[in-house]
Amino acid sequence: MRVAIDGPAGSGKSTVAHAISDRCGMTFLDTGAMYRAVTCECARLGIAVDDIEAVTRVAEECRIEFGMSDAGQTVFMNGRDVTREIRTPETDRNVSAVSAIPAVRAAMVERQRGREGDVVAEGRDIGTVVFPDAEVKVFLTADPEARAHRRAVQRQGGDTAKDDATRTDADEERRILEDLKRRDQLDSSREASPLKPAEDAHHIDSSLLTVDEVVSRVIALHPRLGELERQASAAQAPEPARPAIEPKDDDAVAAPKAEAPKANAKREQGPMRPFAGNTPDDYYDHAIADWPITGRAFLWLVIMVVGALSKLLCPWRIEEAHKLWDDKSGRMLIMNHCSMVDPVILVVSAYMHGIKCRPIFKSEFNSNALTTWLFSRVGAIPVKRGTADIKAVRRAADALKRGECVLVFPEGTRIRDDERHEIHGGFSLMAQMAKAAVQPFAIVGARNIKPVGALLPRPFCPVYIKAGDKITFEELGVKRRKEQVETMERVAMDRVFQLRDELRAEHPGRL
Ligand code: DC
Repeated sequence: MRVAIDGPAGSGKSTVAHAISDRCGMTFLDTGAMYRAVTCECARLGIAVDDIEAVTRVAEECRIEFGMSDAGQTVFMNGRDVTREIRTPETDRNVSAVSAIPAVRAAMVERQRGREGDVVAEGRDIGTVVFPDAEVKVFLTADPEARAHRRAVQRQGGDTAKDDATRTDADEERRILEDLKRRDQLDSSREASPLKPAEDAHHIDSSLLTVDEVVSRVIALHPRLGELERQASAAQAPEPARPAIEPKDDDAVAAPKAEAPKANAKREQGPMRPFAGNTPDDYYDHAIADWPITGRAFLWLVIMVVGALSKLLCPWRIEEAHKLWDDKSGRMLIMNHCSMVDPVILVVSAYMHGIKCRPIFKSEFNSNALTTWLFSRVGAIPVKRGTADIKAVRRAADALKRGECVLVFPEGTRIRDDERHEIHGGFSLMAQMAKAAVQPFAIVGARNIKPVGALLPRPFCPVYIKAGDKITFEELGVKRRKEQVETMERVAMDRVFQLRDELRAEHPGRL
């Protein structure tokens, strides 16, 4: 699901897009902040905005990341926090020139399109260029005076969602108004992707509307947004009392609602019911220790055979493996993902040292009865990517609470290059629900097994994994739950890539 919100500076796009992402659990993409970050980096490097070649190089080579803090969105340029810098008058003055360079736009648009899943993006060209197929397109406008007032409130550190009546410095507001008009003119008259509404955009004038009113109007534009909003509010509500095993539709033993708390109390002592029918759901929902003996024996057989074969065909080693083996708590393990052997190595090694490890896999693999059967029997748990898959989140959180480890590849799929792809942050939510730590790992060498373009895999290709220290939510120093999740997502993935760089330095040539 894509929501495109375009409009001139100060029309409230950011505030509205942010509120939609909060209410509907969507990824928020502030594209203006990306152009601003490039502008700041050029200023830091002493590059003039009319040096098109140098500015383009910065745009193409830089790393822009978003995070969350108590004060709101944070922006990092090549690892440096530029959250404040991107909003200074100097950046305001220069950003239009930077964003008018076609090659800079091409570099930014490519990154913006790389965002997967449900995204609400705001900018000038989202509905026309970045996501021309967006399901919802909004062109948000407001009187220049109203926009200048909001910007002045923002500069004073106020909240435009609440502080409409705040008094601002009249001179400052006049200067902002002039600058806005100048930027409107530049943004609408430039050759590359000028600011203009998409033909199928819904026009909303926010001058006399509150943020909530605008947000509700946008959500009402598409039924899927209402659905996402309901799912997100269910996910954020405190966990309701529920039976240990979610009753399936055809499940005759579903506990009556009034008895759910009692069932919940029971759950501490173990599963509510034995394996009903040896179904995949039974395997996903129950602790591995509670599986029937045949199920556990089969799992061990697979571990031995696959472990031995993998060791033979792609000799692997885990560096600092004691960090994986010595800790017996339920943890969320995360790793970069490049080949089918990645989960095998971590899962096999964990089991060999008495740690139960349940990999999360994309539900697309459940396309036939055989893979569904096999994946459920090796302890894997399916997740529907790109949706708020509450069931998968609960299953993983339950496993963590029971002391099992859960393995997630936040990149979502096997990645064959070094680009920073969209991260699926569900791992962080799962860990937070279970109050579990996140432990980063990195793998190198697995891409060498079957390089891009090769027809057959190359045997005997060494593969290295490195274990990192686990990260707890407490040590992040962030209080609000939503920000904790986002900060963990960023910090943990940064550690993964840092570990990968270390491994590559230790084993040159291993990708
Ligand atoms: O929305 P904003 O004020 O943060 O945007 C900063 C500048 O970036 C603005 O002058 C227009 C430009 N911009 C753009 O050209 N295309 C986008 N998609 C977003 C912003």
